[in-house]
Amino acid sequence: MSIDVASTPIRNASVLPFYRFLAKHPRDPVSAFEEVGRQAGGRLVRLNMGPFRPYLVTHPDHVQHVLRANQPNYVREGMFWDPLIPLLGEGILSDGETWQESRRVLQPLFTAKYIESLADRMADILTEQIDATVRPGEPFDVVNGISAIVHPTIVRLFFGDRISKDDIDRLIPAYEVSVTATWPRLLMPFVPASVPLPGDRAFRRSIETINRVVYPRVHEARRTAGEGRDVVSAICRARAEDHGEEGDRRIRDDMVSMHGASTETSATALTWVWVALDQHPDLAEKIYAELDEVIGSEPVRPSHLPDLRYLKMFLSELVRLYPPGWILPRKAVKDDEIDGVRIKAGSTVMISPYLTHRLGAFWDRPAEFDPERFGPDQDRRHRWAYFPFGGGPHKCLGQHLFMMEAQLLMASLLSRFRPVLSASRPVRPRLASSLRPNQKVELTLVERARA
Ligand code: HEM
Repeated sequence: MSIDVASTPIRNASVLPFYRFLAKHPRDPVSAFEEVGRQAGGRLVRLNMGPFRPYLVTHPDHVQHVLRANQPNYVREGMFWDPLIPLLGEGILSDGETWQESRRVLQPLFTAKYIESLADRMADILTEQIDATVRPGEPFDVVNGISAIVHPTIVRLFFGDRISKDDIDRLIPAYEVSVTATWPRLLMPFVPASVPLPGDRAFRRSIETINRVVYPRVHEARRTAGEGRDVVSAICRARAEDHGEEGDRRIRDDMVSMHGASTETSATALTWVWVALDQHPDLAEKIYAELDEVIGSEPVRPSHLPDLRYLKMFLSELVRLYPPGWILPRKAVKDDEIDGVRIKAGSTVMISPYLTHRLGAFWDRPAEFDPERFGPDQDRRHRWAYFPFGGGPHKCLGQHLFMMEAQLLMASLLSRFRPVLSASRPVRPRLASSLRPNQKVELTLVERARA
């Protein structure tokens, strides 16, 4: 699909009428978005969204250009990121020098080896959270129920015993409000920050609550960092040279940013697990057979995970079709050219794993859920055709952590129960800050009869 740039004059991107597609699918915006992807067919296009005309990048070569080859030109700034600055500060979700410094501090922590060292603790916390949340035989709302397991698990892993149950109960709703309260600003990016919008006050209050919980934990971790195996202690050790308020603030920014990057994404991915199992009973049987063979009636331990190969393939396919980070927005700093198409400085460039993962030119039967794509004998695919965890210098730090958490959670539940799902109509993704289901989905866990 690439063209000879040397012999072709630079041209403007063709424009796709996104509003018209939306009008065609008024109840199902994700179908409109999929249609955009099909019509673009890997070409670099602009979307006509009224006064806002972002570029849409889906071809793997172009994704590679934006996320890696010319990455410094595509920064996490602009309408999607700026409203979040008061929450995220100058940490790992910023860009430029402050991001670079956070990455230098955090990257060595998130090695597979460090994550493995957290595994036993994670398995124990998950078991406690599952016991506190799931009532066998009684239905629970999948989105809320999975969040009620995943969010406290991550907070407890990050802060260890330094955080009380009361503080967890204050922190988690505050995070939730902080993310949802910025929606009016995201929908009306042309409104200056000085003009108040609904949600602004709730946003400020949620940040105050987050700070009241997080700062004391940071101060305490600074005093006793040598002893802690939790994430905040590890960061305090890595930032031992950064003294005073500025140092505290940077640790706070990284803790809050990592919470933002890890909880909603993990909970969303783990919500789709149940939908996919329900839609594919044959694949569910393969998972049960593997769990019976590897775990039997024992409690799930991290030592089981390397043998749960099919489960890992299933999860890889899950985040292909339902990547929680379905859109990765950037701002172009300078004029650029991708495959002969002009990118204007200052404009928004959107990369979409959701669309790239469905491109027919790079995926056989793209809409079909097939974990075998990630089996050991598969042909190598284009390196940038699959990037649920992003790529290049901003690549996700939590990929191993997520895989461990997801395998532990699924293995813990599915080795004991069979999920029975109820939904009023076919479940489709809803385009929001992450890719949640478009309706309430209820799950009942029924005790499994084993052979
Ligand atoms: C299913 C689960 C997850 C998915 C799909 C996911 C996806 C992503 C994606 C797409 C990015 C790139 C963002 C960008 O380019 O702007 C990213 C970055 C990041 N993720 Fe994850 N993530 C997940 C879980 C986690 C977890 C559990 C952590 C815990 C530490 C985490 C920490 C981060 C951080 C710190 C970054 C920013 C890295 C940087 O900019 O240097 N993620 N993630």
